[in-house]
Amino acid sequence: MYQPESKWALAHSLSRSPSRLVERSETDDPAADALCENGRHVRPDVPGVNRMLAQFRNMNNRHLVVTEIETGVAVVRIENPPVNALSDGVAEGLEEAIRRAEADRALRAIVIMGAGTTFVAGADIKQLEDLAWSRGPGAPNIHGLLEKIENCTKPVVMAIHGTALGGGLELAMAGHYRVAVRSARIGQPEVNLGIIPGAEGTQRLPRLAGVEKAVEMCVTGKLLAAADALEAGIVDAILEGDLRTDAIGYARQVSESGGPHRKTREQRALLRQASSMDDAMRTGVELARKLKRNQIAPLKALEAIRAAAAMPFEEGCARERELFNECVTSDQCRALIHGFFAERAVTKFPGLSNQTLPSPVEHVFVIGAGTMGRGIAMACSNAGLNVALRDSSRAALDAAMIAIRKDYDSSIQRGRLTPAVAAERMNKIRPQLDYQGIETTDVVIEAVFEDLELKRSVFRELDGTLKPGCILASNTSTLSIDELARQTERPDCVLGLHFFTPAHVMRLLEIVRGQATSSRALAIALTLAKRLSKVGVVVGNGPGFVGNRLMFPYMYEAQFLLEEGATPEQVDRALREFGMAMGIFQVEDMAGLDVAWRVRRQLRQFSAPGDRKPLVADKLCEMGRFGQKSGKGWYTYGEDGKPSSDPQVQELIGTLSREAAIPQHEFTDNQIVERTLYGLINEGARVLEEGFAARASDIDVIYVNGYGFPGWRGGPMFYADSVGLKRVVETITSFEHEFGTRWRVSPLLRQLAESGKNFRSFDQEHGT
Ligand code: CAA
Repeated sequence: MYQPESKWALAHSLSRSPSRLVERSETDDPAADALCENGRHVRPDVPGVNRMLAQFRNMNNRHLVVTEIETGVAVVRIENPPVNALSDGVAEGLEEAIRRAEADRALRAIVIMGAGTTFVAGADIKQLEDLAWSRGPGAPNIHGLLEKIENCTKPVVMAIHGTALGGGLELAMAGHYRVAVRSARIGQPEVNLGIIPGAEGTQRLPRLAGVEKAVEMCVTGKLLAAADALEAGIVDAILEGDLRTDAIGYARQVSESGGPHRKTREQRALLRQASSMDDAMRTGVELARKLKRNQIAPLKALEAIRAAAAMPFEEGCARERELFNECVTSDQCRALIHGFFAERAVTKFPGLSNQTLPSPVEHVFVIGAGTMGRGIAMACSNAGLNVALRDSSRAALDAAMIAIRKDYDSSIQRGRLTPAVAAERMNKIRPQLDYQGIETTDVVIEAVFEDLELKRSVFRELDGTLKPGCILASNTSTLSIDELARQTERPDCVLGLHFFTPAHVMRLLEIVRGQATSSRALAIALTLAKRLSKVGVVVGNGPGFVGNRLMFPYMYEAQFLLEEGATPEQVDRALREFGMAMGIFQVEDMAGLDVAWRVRRQLRQFSAPGDRKPLVADKLCEMGRFGQKSGKGWYTYGEDGKPSSDPQVQELIGTLSREAAIPQHEFTDNQIVERTLYGLINEGARVLEEGFAARASDIDVIYVNGYGFPGWRGGPMFYADSVGLKRVVETITSFEHEFGTRWRVSPLLRQLAESGKNFRSFDQEHGT
């Protein structure tokens, strides 16, 4: 039986041993190594205790902070893989290392750096997750450490490689100097987790870089390259050689200069210089509205930055802490942290853990130079891969290369690419009419017209020419991967790579696993996704895979709402207010109504006999209203490409509804959201119970990254959890009574609701 007292006592005793930090000295004599106490306080709450137990496992036999002495300079290295997060024990270890280095008369300066591939990627997000769900001890507070560093009588140089993010940058800004390698990147990405910088970043950053820069970084969460950080005054020097050696040299130099060594907190010049705080705040609000619509944290970050200018340092820090605490327990923070871990979980497909890592993909062969093919080719060349783009038509190839060049030119004009980089990327794409080189390629991606017979013949033709083990992928969005695999002698190497348009921009990649697809092939596809900076999610080979399958009930219910009295504008506005990037009718117009028309005919199982069928969409297509491409769809599009409502569509809807005698109603925004999204959630639960998605959180990743679902709501399944599955089931049941069998509750959804569980606990229980 659970006994809190004994667990508390156990954790307390553990807290004294595992957190000891060993400092390695020049002698490297373990007997001479001094041990220091961590002095952590542990509260007797169970999750906190559990975390302590986990930490014990983590920290056992491992030193989180290691100090080496190099002729008068202490090199303090944080060793907390994989990203040197500021987990419990790291701040304490650093504080102790600084204390000892300061006390050692033989030492003149201190360098702080990270072990492995990075400096420090911030606070430990696992700990923040506990905090967001009100588990574990309170917010980590590294104020004492930052103060100790800044007050250190010896110069402290922060040596940055990889990334210095969130708490990592905040740590760096407390140092007297910051040096970085050219490839390093820095940032305050906390808003992406629904919080604001919580370790004085909103107070030090405007002092170093000015209010405008701080606003931009804290509101957008975007990272800066080292060169930009230098220009912004956040970094003092870029070191081109070996970071450790050069940082030590830099530290010696600054110590010889005799100081005074600048404390960031004492800088106020840039705060005063801020041409107008109100202007900076207005810019920040505008940025937040554009890039982080409906999110709380960016606005709170602005408030904290305002405090930096209005208050003395200590008071500003206290204000920042209050605002941080308001954010960290918000629904938005929970949802965004869920998204962070969900995105990392997709790379761990069950059954792949023991796989040897596949050799990296270097050469890709894309077949078909239409919109998808050229987007895929660009995604590959942007990632530094060599790519052949093959089409049987010279005209299609020429058109593709012109479109690709135009895209790169526009990136140059917008300052996103230098002409040299654009030229390099262009050169990596080799247009060709034949299959030359295909026999040595690692991955072939077929992106020909969505026609089963055509694709079958491509697969048959290619199979014999490819090297053993070459992955043969189809970019189909609707056709069966097993059917294509059957055309080959290598079904284990066949899978789907479902890119989303535009393929070089959209982050989502559905990796479709056929019956025979091997783990090796999936591992290669996941590695390729990562290389292309995409989120690859493994899904099963069912109609519409996962993303599009859930779209059917969503689109259909939206259309039924029109037939029952709503307008396209009203439905779209309600969905946008909910947080969707675009309304469903805008999305359909953008994708092309003819595309969905064709898919509807191919996937008849989504409009089973007896089920209600939408009346309007087919008619629009018959009228040649294919959406944006034809200037008319659910909306009419003017010269500027902006949608406006069209009385003809309204009339058509009215006529068809009257003919079918559909009763008319008025709808609230909430009713619109429930009718559309609950259909999608119910289908998501079916996908899960049928095994087409491995986790509920995979569905969330798909919808946030490919379908414009708001990340701050966590994705559809997480959203259902936050509404409460019991309530979701009650509402769906009432829809079933009103509208019939298409609203039958998914057995899994009902079972979870009845047992008081949710999708999150489903994922946890299934160990995925
Ligand atoms: N805390 C805990 N774990 C972290 C972490 C963090 N801050 N950052 C990354 N990780 C973990 C990931 O979960 C992943 O773990 P698994 O291998 O177990 O899945 C592992 O590190 C590697 O991460 P990625 O797969 O993302 O590796 P990558 O090389 O593609 O990217 C990265 C590395 C750029 C650091 C990226 O992980 C990232 O952006 N991390 C988040 C950084 C961040 O948001 N920092 C701010 C934290 S909040 C904060 O600091 C509050 C404050 O003000 C005090």
